[in-house]
Amino acid sequence: MSRIVLGVAGGIAAYKGCELLRRLTTAGHDVTVVPTAAALQFVGASTWAALSGKPVSTEVWDDVHQVRHVLLGQEADLVFVAPVTADLLARAAAGRADDLLTNVLLTAHGPVVFAPAMHTEMWGHAATRANVDLLRQRGTVVIDPDSGRLTGPDSGPGRLPEPDELYAIATSILDRPATARTAAARDLAGLTVAVSAGGTREHLDPVRFVGNSSSGLMGWALARAAALRGARVRLVAANVTLPPPAGAEVEHVTSTAEMGHAMGVAAKDADLVVMAAAPADFAPATTSATKIKKQGDTGLRVDLVQTADVLAGLVAARTDPAQILVGFAAETPTADRSLAQLGAAKLERKGCDLLVVNDVSGGNVFGRSDNEVILLDRNRASGPFAGSKDVLAHDIWDAALELRARR
Ligand code: CTP
Repeated sequence: MSRIVLGVAGGIAAYKGCELLRRLTTAGHDVTVVPTAAALQFVGASTWAALSGKPVSTEVWDDVHQVRHVLLGQEADLVFVAPVTADLLARAAAGRADDLLTNVLLTAHGPVVFAPAMHTEMWGHAATRANVDLLRQRGTVVIDPDSGRLTGPDSGPGRLPEPDELYAIATSILDRPATARTAAARDLAGLTVAVSAGGTREHLDPVRFVGNSSSGLMGWALARAAALRGARVRLVAANVTLPPPAGAEVEHVTSTAEMGHAMGVAAKDADLVVMAAAPADFAPATTSATKIKKQGDTGLRVDLVQTADVLAGLVAARTDPAQILVGFAAETPTADRSLAQLGAAKLERKGCDLLVVNDVSGGNVFGRSDNEVILLDRNRASGPFAGSKDVLAHDIWDAALELRARR
């Protein structure tokens, strides 16, 4: 259980903060909500108090004898502010302490994360840009807003990411506070990454397919971590129904051939490419345009053909020698072939630069939020790395960046 301060500034997206609060408290965290006075115009103090189970104040003058304006920040494992307005960015950048939330920001000992939401013009304004740059230089994590429908008829960058995404970012930073440093430093800024996620499906007829149970969670975690660290993120998703990760451009595909094409385009001028998807290796030799009827008692014999290997295609098509290609390997080690041996053989066969190897004996990876992997490149094996897929995603980007630096 962690101690969290959830700051809320005065924007319409404050309603998404309620859902985030619920997710955090359901997970067992101790959350104190600190809204600004303007935030209460959108969601009232009684909602925050009921959902957090704690009193709510906006000013430093309540419970002065407890010195809450200092203690709240000092004791928090994480200060997460969602939504953050242009006004709060300006006040935080200037170091003002004119309400309880800004006092908490000035006394925080742990990571501070801002999730801004505002109109596109405000987000793009030179004053806001300068405030964001300054806050990031000082170590505050500022999440780029999503693009999409804003309040009123407008659309563009400025939307608060969905509560599930905010929750994933909050918990990844609680799991490993050091990720806040790389996120604030934006060490992937200027780089483009292409990531595949999910499991492809090969249709037998309009309703049946050959597929696998990949959830897309690992690819989502990679996309989320890269966006947080400042990369331009292209995500090719096969049959994933999760809400889009904050800051990623998502393209949806169904089959391995579609994934091959979409990843070919996404990877063309990308600096780092990760094939986290589980493409179906086999496809029915023919696809029926109509639903195949039962064949009496005889059953149905299906011929399967092998699909193209997307990763091998990306290796063959690589034109930029500095591009780093990362593959995943799902292996079931045996008494005579260890995980590392199976991984080394696959790294050689695939021709990629880095392989993330995990043990899928017993099907114990799909849909889980945590995992254990080893990382293999041509010169060395590292790990095991264990933890949530969000934390592992940061390890994978660290290793890919290091390989790139050695090129
Ligand atoms: N992969 C791919 N195209 C395929 C199959 C797999 O690009 N048609 C990629 C996966 O995204 C992963 C890597 O190749 O990054 C290894 O996947 P894995 O299923 O472990 O290996 P396979 O190539 O399918 O080999 P095998 O089934 O023989 O272990």
